Amino acid sequence: MKILVTGGAGYIGSHTLIELYKAGHEAVVIDNLCNSSSESLRRVGLITGAKIPFFKVDIRDSKGLDGVFDTHPDFDCCIHFAGLKAVGESVSKPLEYYENNINGTLVLLDSMRRHGVKNIIFSSSATVYGNPAVIPITEKCPKGECTNPYGQTKSMLEQVLTDLQKSDPEWNVVLLRYFNPIGAHESGMIGENPNGIPNNLMPYITQVAVGKRKELGVFGKDYDTPDGTGVRDYIHVVDLARGHVCALKAITGKCGLAIYNLGTGHGYSVLDIVNTFQRVNGVTVPYSIKPRRPGDIATCYSDPAKAYRELGWKAQFGIEEMCRDSWNWQKKNPNGFEGE
Ligand code: NAD
Ligand code: UFG
Repeated sequence: MKILVTGGAGYIGSHTLIELYKAGHEAVVIDNLCNSSSESLRRVGLITGAKIPFFKVDIRDSKGLDGVFDTHPDFDCCIHFAGLKAVGESVSKPLEYYENNINGTLVLLDSMRRHGVKNIIFSSSATVYGNPAVIPITEKCPKGECTNPYGQTKSMLEQVLTDLQKSDPEWNVVLLRYFNPIGAHESGMIGENPNGIPNNLMPYITQVAVGKRKELGVFGKDYDTPDGTGVRDYIHVVDLARGHVCALKAITGKCGLAIYNLGTGHGYSVLDIVNTFQRVNGVTVPYSIKPRRPGDIATCYSDPAKAYRELGWKAQFGIEEMCRDSWNWQKKNPNGFEGE
């Protein structure tokens, strides 16, 4: 299939490009590079041996999108990663988040519709479950209250896509609810490259391990979990990327609206991750216990059975491989894509 990949220069997008090419698909990337670098695409080219067309276009730019659709009138599907994703930043810049994520997606959908492309796979998040009503979380679990504008954009966009599909059954919409992606491609050539101080656990750990930050703050040790620290469903980004390739089966099968959790089904605590990272990589990660982070929940992990049942997708990598590959990327690229 020929796939339009928005946000393809980013962390999950770049890994997904590799899996798409491995499975025999082709892709065209659009990205405004607001949170990424074209260097990731150059490296994806080295890994795949493919010359992937890239357009530096903002998804809010209707004319720019028309240019892409005019040059490539034969897309079968769009995988839509483009969006802003920093939870804390979204609290201080709500308008920027709603404008970029919501307006951007509306402009993209309008452009897709005008060009007769009515298949989309959307990057959603476990954050739409809020404080989940049941654990492990199945797709039947009701959506919950999101505690930040970023999460709201995901929840609202799920609704927009659901309403769109309902209005016109020619649309096929797959909502993929990611749990916590970490890890990197085995080559160590691409990986997560956060701007500034990392918000998320694994990039913070790798930056402590590489000597860029002094110590990890563990946000709370008084949760109702086995060791008191927060429990999450970490998933290797390559498994997540493969989930998108499998989701194309739902599109081909004319799924209408389909929702899948992409997680491993296992919960690990913050200290499980720190201890595994240290053991597997033979490095030390100093940490200290800090107060809880506002908005955090105690436990969040998936029941990923539906994706296996319907798409034949299942995560292959375990927590040790996730820790190994995150470190491999960081130590080979201490400054991300920016070089030494
Ligand atoms: P990322 O920031 O690495 O990638 C997103 C890409 O979108 C970036 O390359 C950025 O430059 C681009 N982009 C942003 N706004 C754009 C716009 N208006 N026009 C064109 N390009 C634009 O993030 P990621 O971790 O790869 O996440 C990909 C998607 O998955 C996002 O939608 C994110 O919200 C979602 N998601 C991520 C996680 C996670 O923990 N990484 C979890 C759940 C969902
Ligand atoms: N944590 C720390 N110290 C840190 C960073 C995180 O102790 O420096 C803890 C958190 O308190 C939490 C766990 O590590 O218990 C994971 O935190 P992350 O920030 O890595 O991930 P979250 O589960 O909070 O959120 C992530 C993404 C969201 C997404 C959600 C569900 O940031 O965008 O997963 O997919 F919505």
